[in-house]
Amino acid sequence: MKNNPLPRLDTDENLRNELLPHCRLKPGEIWEDPINGHKVGCLDATNSLDIKRLMGGEYAKLAIHDPPYNLVAFQERSIAEFINWCKKWVENSWLWLDKNSALYIWLGADQKDNYQPLPDFMIMMRDLDFDPISFITMRNQRGYGTQKNWMAVRQELLYYVKGSPYFEVQYTDIPKILRGYYKTVNGQTTENLERSKSDNIRASNVWVDIQQVFYRMEENISGCYAQKPLKSIERIINASSKQGDLVIDFFAHSGTTLLASEIKKRRCFTIDIDPVYCEISIRRLELFRQKGRLGWQNGHPFEMELPDRNSEQPQLPNNGQKQEVFQQPVQAKLL
Ligand SMILES: C[S@@+](CC[C@H](N)C(=O)[O-])C[C@H]1O[C@@H](n2cnc3c(N)ncnc32)[C@H](O)[C@@H]1O
Repeated sequence: MKNNPLPRLDTDENLRNELLPHCRLKPGEIWEDPINGHKVGCLDATNSLDIKRLMGGEYAKLAIHDPPYNLVAFQERSIAEFINWCKKWVENSWLWLDKNSALYIWLGADQKDNYQPLPDFMIMMRDLDFDPISFITMRNQRGYGTQKNWMAVRQELLYYVKGSPYFEVQYTDIPKILRGYYKTVNGQTTENLERSKSDNIRASNVWVDIQQVFYRMEENISGCYAQKPLKSIERIINASSKQGDLVIDFFAHSGTTLLASEIKKRRCFTIDIDPVYCEISIRRLELFRQKGRLGWQNGHPFEMELPDRNSEQPQLPNNGQKQEVFQQPVQAKLL
């Protein structure tokens, strides 16, 4: 795949305007997938009527939300306003989640800003009817380093439930890293590190085995600034839903939950307020169906319309693969 990345779309208003005419959804519209019944809506997570239209009377077994962390489309809000905004989409989730269902929310804790928004978000959740179950941390490979503080490498993931939903323990390739803890099985005594290669290592609430997305990975979607690793979303889907279940995600962005649902044979209803991210999400699903690819690596989703954006610019290191360009959008119904 050639090196033809898009810059961050949230900071390049001209590029967004260039891309908008190529987006099939306008605000308020919903794309319905004719193949596996997914939906992508250009809707507002806080608008209860939008969400009602999206759900069309169905209830989801699992919600995976990754909201913008108080940098909502170029403008910062006070923490109180941000939490109030969060409460609205959490309440919309409650309305359309099954009586036995799971809710996962990715959130940051900014150490330069009183660890916000995580603590105030947790306190807000106390007033709602979801039950808190686990506080997961995913370790990033890279962090914003400084000589004057501990390097920040964590991403927080909150797990709540409504009722008593399905949960399946997940086994991982997380290696054990600490010596000690001797255990004797069938007369043979082993130490922690010796048991490290077992297939039965359960995922704890600290995930250190998930590669952060960067431009050399096939799943990379250039232009998207907040993409979650596919493996993390697949882990949540495997643990908290069954094949055929409906999954919702109100902050689609690069469409990671949509793609993970397709791969894991769940249905996904997802939305983004921005038509550009809705288009990217749909194209990512179509790319996967046509080419089996997880993303454009260091190319981009609009190569058909903007093929040579970076021909004048220096190239990033290439992995030597042939470029593949998405060609033909699948026909679908607009609601
Ligand atoms: C942190 S990103 C989500 C990243 C996603 N999990 C992924 O893997 O690509 C947040 C997204 O929420 C969208 N967004 C912001 N406000 C919204 C709202 N009120 N309703 C729906 N989407 C919104 C933004 O456009 C952005 O694409």
